[in-house]
Amino acid sequence: MPANSYQPRVFTLPAIPGISSKQIAEHLKLYEGYVKRTNALYEAFERLSGDPDPVVVQDLRRRLGFEFNGMRLHEFYFGDLEGGPQPLPEGWLKESLAREFGDTQGLRDALKVVVARGSGWAIANYDPLVHRIHLNWVDEHHIGQLATLPIIAAVDMWEHAYMVDYTPGEKMRYFDAYWAALNWETIARRAESWRKA
Ligand SMILES: [Fe+2]
Repeated sequence: MPANSYQPRVFTLPAIPGISSKQIAEHLKLYEGYVKRTNALYEAFERLSGDPDPVVVQDLRRRLGFEFNGMRLHEFYFGDLEGGPQPLPEGWLKESLAREFGDTQGLRDALKVVVARGSGWAIANYDPLVHRIHLNWVDEHHIGQLATLPIIAAVDMWEHAYMVDYTPGEKMRYFDAYWAALNWETIARRAESWRKA
């Protein structure tokens, strides 16, 4: 495997009230599949380079956003659960959320509207150009991403994220459980790095 291949991250996750360890284990297997498929795509690009018929490479390149984003978004998703729930510390993110949503509860209420329907990702992005936080919906992993905008946090609302524990009609209970388990220190640190970038 080439040196620049991706390796699945190993997450140290606490017990999460409302999301079972079986659910998390199944979800992590899916995440590792995205890492594997991303590497497999690059191996295929290498293998097919110089192929006089470009159609296969063209189609595979169109697949890259799905597999790569599937990998990277899950790394935000699981990474924000490490260390257990922690409150949002003082700092730039807290001030920005206060300005735009009142507080993290205001953000949660706004997100709940976004996640109520569909299968995909609810994503908070930061636009350094105008210092605005966007709440965005991404179908699958790649359709609807905001170009160039760094991601502050990503909530997985695919059915696979909750269907070991909940029916589709109960998915807001899953959202509440994920929200309650977030480590806001991690999220604030990431947001701060985007602001300084
Ligand atoms: Fe997922």
